[in-house]
Amino acid sequence: MSDLHFATAAVHAGRADLGELGVHALPIDLSTTYPLSDVEAGGAAYDQFAGGGTPRTGDSFVYGRLWNPTVARFEDALAHLEGGSDAVAFATGMAAVTAVLMATVASGKPHVVAVRPLYGGTDHLLATGLLGTQVTYARPQEVAAAITDQTGLVILESPGNPTLDLIDIGAVVAAAGSVPVLVDNTFATPVLQRPLEHGASIVLHSATKFLGGHGDALGGVIVTDAETAQRIRPIRAITGSILHPMAAYLLHRGLPTLPIRVERQQRSATTIAAALAQHPAVRRVLHPSLPGANAHGLIGRQMSGPGSVLAFELAGGYEAALTTAKRVQLITHAVSLGGVDTLIQHPAGLTHRPVAAQAKPSEGILRLSVGLEDPADLLADLEHAIC
Ligand SMILES: Cc1ncc(COP(=O)(O)O)c(C=O)c1O
Repeated sequence: MSDLHFATAAVHAGRADLGELGVHALPIDLSTTYPLSDVEAGGAAYDQFAGGGTPRTGDSFVYGRLWNPTVARFEDALAHLEGGSDAVAFATGMAAVTAVLMATVASGKPHVVAVRPLYGGTDHLLATGLLGTQVTYARPQEVAAAITDQTGLVILESPGNPTLDLIDIGAVVAAAGSVPVLVDNTFATPVLQRPLEHGASIVLHSATKFLGGHGDALGGVIVTDAETAQRIRPIRAITGSILHPMAAYLLHRGLPTLPIRVERQQRSATTIAAALAQHPAVRRVLHPSLPGANAHGLIGRQMSGPGSVLAFELAGGYEAALTTAKRVQLITHAVSLGGVDTLIQHPAGLTHRPVAAQAKPSEGILRLSVGLEDPADLLADLEHAIC
């Protein structure tokens, strides 16, 4: 499996046991509990999960909050596609962020250095300190100076949500020294960027977005080394944040088409970004394909393409953004991204609403997640909506 091309791995990863099971489609195991041969064997299996381990041959899975084989197949697939040893899947992306932050606090180093922009929910969770973390927000060049002997995690997104800033992962990893770096790879997906290859310790996804790709399943996943996964699995079990097997099935079913969706959506986004950049009512367009957006040469070196999420700022500011979001007909006015259909939303008013004023995106900005429709139809809809 390891020497397969990405598109082939996307189709086949996480399906190694299907032949043995005599099935072709991914089986969905909805069990909430599992039969035990006897108390001691059940107890030993329980201890194995409590220690963050994976089931040994013949072990009962004991209880659905500890382990689920449908979820485990999705995890195997993600670990493979991101080039990591282990993956741990959660009910949502925010549940995954929460588990990593709880593990950071448990490590005795509760200070987090966060590179903005981050998804509003992540930014908010860090700002509140709800989980016992203390945060220092830093620009990439300030990361080294922000680290203290209490720093247990550096966190970044690239491209960042919602302004599509590209961050040099290798440079932040170097600045972080021995502190683990988490990269939220939701926007890029492993099709375009594999952060572990640039030295990141943990890759995180809101699987709700591109991985599932159809807007019908919430999920989150981290990919990391075996030791980190072993520390995080018990947190997932104790806090009850495991991915539901039905969602795991849907997310896993999305993976074979991930490369083709990402490539096609990216092509359309590039066309739309170029057209919007010429529009008289648009002040600026934010997309890594545009001149100046790739100043550090990260497209080509770190990321193989610009992705399919873009943002644009209207010359008419807040009022124009609200009216435009209201006027689209084909495009859906809704939060989320990465699905087969195109979505538009106002970050300052919605996804980034809880972010501190100084870090909030401009009120004239709309974020567009470009889907699989013909870009000509999307442009016609935007043309009629933009004011
Ligand atoms: C970049 C990014 N990370 C994390 C999340 C949180 O994921 P979820 O909504 O699945 O909890 C989101 C959600 O929009 C996101 O855009």
